[in-house]
Amino acid sequence: MKKIIIAIDGYSSCGKSTFAKKIAAERGYIFIDTGAMYRAVTLYALRRGWIGSDGKADTDSLVRHLDEIRIAFRYNPQREASDLYLNGENVEQEIRTIEVSGHVSAVSQIPQVRERLVKLQQEMGREKGIVMDGRDIGTVVFPEAELKIFMTADPEVRAMRRFRELSEKGEKVSLQEITENICKRDNADVTRKISPLRKAPDALVLDNSRMSVAEQMMWVREKIDKLVR
Ligand code: DC
Repeated sequence: MKKIIIAIDGYSSCGKSTFAKKIAAERGYIFIDTGAMYRAVTLYALRRGWIGSDGKADTDSLVRHLDEIRIAFRYNPQREASDLYLNGENVEQEIRTIEVSGHVSAVSQIPQVRERLVKLQQEMGREKGIVMDGRDIGTVVFPEAELKIFMTADPEVRAMRRFRELSEKGEKVSLQEITENICKRDNADVTRKISPLRKAPDALVLDNSRMSVAEQMMWVREKIDKLVR
């Protein structure tokens, strides 16, 4: 069967990763969460003190040390997903905190950071058979992807989903804090100068505000089947 690239873009907390992971598992494809990569660079910058209390990133220091940042995914059978390793350390938990979420927009605006991560993502997809989710996958990373999906959902629905997810993990965070973070990141994603979040002209829109995961899977199965036949 023909292998394809499936590019999934969309707003924060739309369930892109859950969806992408399920598709990958069903097809035996590799799943790459590119948001995790931007989060890992942000974590590195935070640890090195390159993000000030005003939220501004020390771009010069970060860019000068970009070569020191090694990012890799390794499959974790317990989670049935890949964990992100930053310079050999499993940081899958740390990159999901609200602190990292609050600073990732500043880091993902830096052209050199994007250039480096996009290159890495393109290498990961060379063999096809991948499902990659992010903000610029269908527009910049793989504009030639066979299937492009643009995901969206109402902001209130997204905030509630993220709230449940973080609460289940034991993170103490209010719904209001999450809603604010989501709105801020939406705005930063859309207004960013380089590679802003845009729907690729040939991307299919999937609004999952009122759709179950099973319904989303049914929707996508039909599209993929047509392409790999
Ligand atoms: O998907 P996520 O919320 O984990 O992504 C974290 C941040 O990284 C998000 O606020 C925007 C940025 N991002 C990006 O700029 N480009 C991507 N391809 C993926 C994520």
